[in-house]
Amino acid sequence: MLHDLLGVDNVEIKAVCDLVPEKVEHAQKAVTDAGQAKPAGFSKGELDFKNLNQLDLDIVYIATPWNWHVPMAVDAMKNGKHAASEVPAATTLEECWDLVNTSEATRKHCVILENCCYGSSEMMVLGMVRDGFFGEITHAEGAYLHDLRGILTANESEGLWRRFPHMQRNGNLYPTHGLGPVAHYMDINRGDRFDYLVSVSSAEASLSAYVKTKFPEGDPKRAEKYVCGDMNTSIIKTAKGRSILLQHDVVNPRPYSRLNSISGTKGAFADYPPRVFQDGQKDEDWQQIEAFREKYEHPLWKSTGELARKMGGHGGMDYVMNYRLMDCLKRGLPPDIDVYDAAAWSTPTPLSEKSVAGNGAPQKFPDFTRDGWKNRSSSMLFAG
Ligand SMILES: NC(=O)c1ccc[n+]([C@@H]2O[C@H](COP(=O)([O-])OP(=O)(O)OC[C@H]3O[C@@H](n4cnc5c(N)ncnc54)[C@H](O)[C@@H]3O)[C@@H](O)[C@H]2O)c1
Repeated sequence: MLHDLLGVDNVEIKAVCDLVPEKVEHAQKAVTDAGQAKPAGFSKGELDFKNLNQLDLDIVYIATPWNWHVPMAVDAMKNGKHAASEVPAATTLEECWDLVNTSEATRKHCVILENCCYGSSEMMVLGMVRDGFFGEITHAEGAYLHDLRGILTANESEGLWRRFPHMQRNGNLYPTHGLGPVAHYMDINRGDRFDYLVSVSSAEASLSAYVKTKFPEGDPKRAEKYVCGDMNTSIIKTAKGRSILLQHDVVNPRPYSRLNSISGTKGAFADYPPRVFQDGQKDEDWQQIEAFREKYEHPLWKSTGELARKMGGHGGMDYVMNYRLMDCLKRGLPPDIDVYDAAAWSTPTPLSEKSVAGNGAPQKFPDFTRDGWKNRSSSMLFAG
């Protein structure tokens, strides 16, 4: 994130905060190496972020473990800053409402940094959807299928915290990478909204087997009891009657996929690899999406794609997201993804957990927009 932001014109990094002083120093050096003044550093304990929030800042980026996202975002907004939170923005319904209520009360944006919405294919497909290429969209699929066993059990970084929810919760722990792009295609919170969800988890097996294979007798990880099923499958029904398949599996060995597919009355898109099908085409094979790039590549990818790919983060989508968010702030435009999206896209975690515990019983989504979804217009991603 820091690397990307240092590459955007007219963005100054004024402060950095981390529990680990060496990480703060490392970040400060990256900023001075980029020719900016040394930012203030905060590393005096878990609540030192509150001191950072006393400075004169426009926006605070939050890329900490999940349990810190909401306390940090709420404190930033209450101190007059916009908040941008890593994914998921929140992990309980109460936390989702805290974000919505605080953003409304303070009139500060609360953005979820869902980089997958800014992938080259995702933005092309969004353009095709808005152009009517797929007709009326009735179904979509999203997922986070990513073998994280090594990361979850490492003795550093996410291995220090991200495995613990697997011992406490059985459901979809990481819904937004799959759901964000699909919510954009379907204009969720802007003409449609998530209505209810049903969810089922498979048995747990893979993480337990992995720690027994990888760690020697006596290692405490071998005694850990994981309750989160390997594969969680949810189905969301929207207010307009559309369906979304949403899956989560971070422990089985398999190639990466976010599914990322849609189908409508005139055609379909499926990812991994990205491909499209049009009603009436001569044969039954998928067409490569490349055939449509010239017409549908998003203007942001046309203008920043080369630099984005060089910056690298997740194939360039991190840079496009950060560039776009900074551009919106500088020009006073509303961000593409707002607090209602942050809350709705994060909500499958608590709802899937409840549905799984109730043998797949349907769970209603709160309407975080308080009926506003009926009249809110599409994000301005194509408005320049
Ligand atoms: N969008 C994506 O593609 C993507 C990819 C990776 C991670 N993430 C998300 O980013 C977030 C961070 O993930 P990560 O891989 O960088 O984790 P990490 O464990 O490597 O880094 C988290 C950092 O937060 C610091 N920290 C923890 N508590 C703190 C506190 N109270 N005050 C200040 N600093 C604190 C830690 O010292 C650590 O340096 C998570 O929410 C994760 O889900 C998103």
